[in-house]
Amino acid sequence: DHQQLPQDKGLDHTLELLKEGYYFIMNRSNKFDSRIFETRLLGEKAICLVGEQEAKLFYDNEKFQRKKAAPSRIQKTLFGKGGVQGLDDQEHRHRKAMFMTLMTDDKLEEIRRLTREEWRNQISDEKHEVNVYEAAKQVLTRMALRWTGIPFKKEEAEQWGEEFSDMFEHAADIGPKHWKARWSRQRAEGWLEDLVQQVRKEKVEVDQDRALYQFSLHKDPKGKLLKPYIVAVELLNLLRPIVATAVYIDFAVLAMHDYPTEVAQIRGDNGRQFIQEVRRFYPFFPFTAARVKQDFIWNDYEFKKGTLTLLDLYGTNHDPVIWDQPNQFKPERFNDWKSNPFDFIPQGGGEFDIGHRCAGEWITIDILNETVNFFSKEISFDFPDQDFGYSMNDIPTLPQSNIIITNIQTTH
Ligand code: HEM
Repeated sequence: DHQQLPQDKGLDHTLELLKEGYYFIMNRSNKFDSRIFETRLLGEKAICLVGEQEAKLFYDNEKFQRKKAAPSRIQKTLFGKGGVQGLDDQEHRHRKAMFMTLMTDDKLEEIRRLTREEWRNQISDEKHEVNVYEAAKQVLTRMALRWTGIPFKKEEAEQWGEEFSDMFEHAADIGPKHWKARWSRQRAEGWLEDLVQQVRKEKVEVDQDRALYQFSLHKDPKGKLLKPYIVAVELLNLLRPIVATAVYIDFAVLAMHDYPTEVAQIRGDNGRQFIQEVRRFYPFFPFTAARVKQDFIWNDYEFKKGTLTLLDLYGTNHDPVIWDQPNQFKPERFNDWKSNPFDFIPQGGGEFDIGHRCAGEWITIDILNETVNFFSKEISFDFPDQDFGYSMNDIPTLPQSNIIITNIQTTH
């Protein structure tokens, strides 16, 4: 006989999840005074976990797998079908390596250069008033298309940016926005599938060192090319989240407004700590999901094969056991922070190569670094009156105003 997990009574808590948003798991964890409990979501039993030891458990490949972990509506919008997120074991490692070989020093340097260039292009065009979120999406769309080696016409970039954004902005929505996200995914997949076929037939000239070419000619463990549809899904696994970094950019500029003394610190080259704190403090990815791979016992709790299990990323980044004053924005906490793979997990935990930790974590940091440098060192601007608040029950959430800046001057 084993310990009974604390249980969230009731038939289903999906509506509460939508209502409580980022606090859903923490609220219950506090109520039950337990870092592990059981609830019911989307009509099935789900175990929820929060904390460092719990993250370590969640990223144990012997105990959890990703097959069928993401709800189908999320696959149809956010992830696509057949991509790296849902693979396990050898197949996952092989596919993940396809992503991680792009993360060399040279290619990351190029992320920084292109980000810088595109911000300069963007701001030289519009100086009176800039919606930071919308501008960031356009900057990042052009940067991402250039970095992946995807040919595009300048005037089409904005439209692609909107479609990439629909996939993450409306991933958790129901109704018309959900459908808009699905259509955007279908159009983008179709466009990329065609392109992959053209690359394979050598009908279009592309840089062989870049993701479009590399993914198009990538071979699976059996030595076969991937289906063009799968290549499209994986290219979107680069394009979409690069554009989604606009969410963190918006919060980083919000932090420049809300914590003006920190801006001096960034100019003094403490940008890194500021960026880490932005990724810890502000809400973006609420939790991630897996399924129990085989029956096991942990801390006297029974985990049954197939059970949906959620790891609270937001909650772990605000866990008072790990973080001193977790609800305060304090970049200096990162001055001599000794991290491990399970305590600071805005983009997932564990290992990059053998686990599902975000392939784009270094890209994200580099984009934020360049952007924060640009906003703090290359331009000056004002914040007009606006609603700087953000809700904790929209997933993903953003400042109400998207952050508007005016009176933009180049400082050199
Ligand atoms: C996976 C967050 C940016 C590519 C993930 C996961 C999270 C995440 C939470 C899942 C971790 C897990 O399930 O264990 C974020 C956030 C980003 C971001 C908050 C900031 C905007 C990026 C970028 C890229 C990227 C820029 C592209 C280069 C991926 C890929 C995976 C992934 C390919 C799947 C990895 C796997 O399943 O092995 N990300 N990500 N992400 N991310 Fe990101």
